[in-house]
Amino acid sequence: MSDIYILGIETSCDETAAAVVKNGRVVLSNIIYSQEKIHAKYGGVVPEIASRNHMDKLGVCVDEAVFSQNLTFNDISAVAVTYGPGLVGALLTGVSYAKALSYAIKKPLIGVNHIEGHICANYINHPKLKPPFICLVASGGHTSLFIVKAHDVYEVVGQTLDDAAGEAFDKTARALGLGYPGGPLLDKIAETGSDTAINFPRAINEKDNFDFSFSGLKSAALNYLNKCKMLETEFSSRDFAASFQRAVVDVLVGKTIAAAQKYKIKTVALAGGVSANSCLRKQLKAACKENKLTLNMPDNIYCTDNAVMIATRGYFDFCLEKFSDLSLNAVSRIS
Ligand code: KG4
Ligand code: ZN
Repeated sequence: MSDIYILGIETSCDETAAAVVKNGRVVLSNIIYSQEKIHAKYGGVVPEIASRNHMDKLGVCVDEAVFSQNLTFNDISAVAVTYGPGLVGALLTGVSYAKALSYAIKKPLIGVNHIEGHICANYINHPKLKPPFICLVASGGHTSLFIVKAHDVYEVVGQTLDDAAGEAFDKTARALGLGYPGGPLLDKIAETGSDTAINFPRAINEKDNFDFSFSGLKSAALNYLNKCKMLETEFSSRDFAASFQRAVVDVLVGKTIAAAQKYKIKTVALAGGVSANSCLRKQLKAACKENKLTLNMPDNIYCTDNAVMIATRGYFDFCLEKFSDLSLNAVSRIS
């Protein structure tokens, strides 16, 4: 079979991204234009501003992804694009662009679910990885545990009942005055703090329940900060960050290992923006080692939103001949 080159396009939130991936695993280009600085002054993503910036930058990102590799659109086998979940206006910019491009260059269109894209980031750094495996997806909008049974068969065994892990990180970081996006900033200051300084609650629930809940922890953290403020008590931001982070990580790691044991699956993978968290990576590595499980984690660059993971997901759909037509639409929520 000749080589398959998939052009991936991702615009679900505030990263405008395009990439070309060969045969599902070889990254040829990975162009990311981050709008982080633009949204930082508002303390979070402003959907309208995100859409406008995608419209400005997507064409440049796509051209660079293709032409920097001395490829032409003729070499591209298919155009894969995130159609959801995400911000509907932001998604629409990518979907419309991909539809027009696929029509113009006469190449198939593939609509990709963003969460499946995150899971597929694992195939990049781990060429031997294949289903079945358990995957923890923790991002700004989602916290779910999946059993990946085949390249196109996923079973959800647990999900968050309230806040996503990334959301809890971002809101707590904001309360601490760290700015946006809070997750990586909180991770950074936690490095030199004590994770046992404050005993935050861990919502582990009953055995064999793999759902997550972070709202209790988030409230406990915010109450702690308010109390310190009211009583004018000094506290260490670093200890606070490290203790909060450890509480989130203990729940994520505990449930992932328990699910692997319950479903007797020996391979674990990690995905989504929060998988860049240093404490999560360290603790999950240790727990997998202790429980004799094989762990796969994407490199940090493939944890947060990117188009490589979309191209890789698109490759599997290409092989399964699962194509979309021009009726493909942006979908903000996918059950
Ligand atoms: O997957 P992603 O880039 O976008 C969504 O699909 O939501 O995830 C973004 C989330 C944000 O909440 C961000 O704060 C969090 O991932 N994040 C982190 C770290 N890096 C990104 N959270 C904790 N520690 C990090 N190092
Ligand atoms: Zn994402």
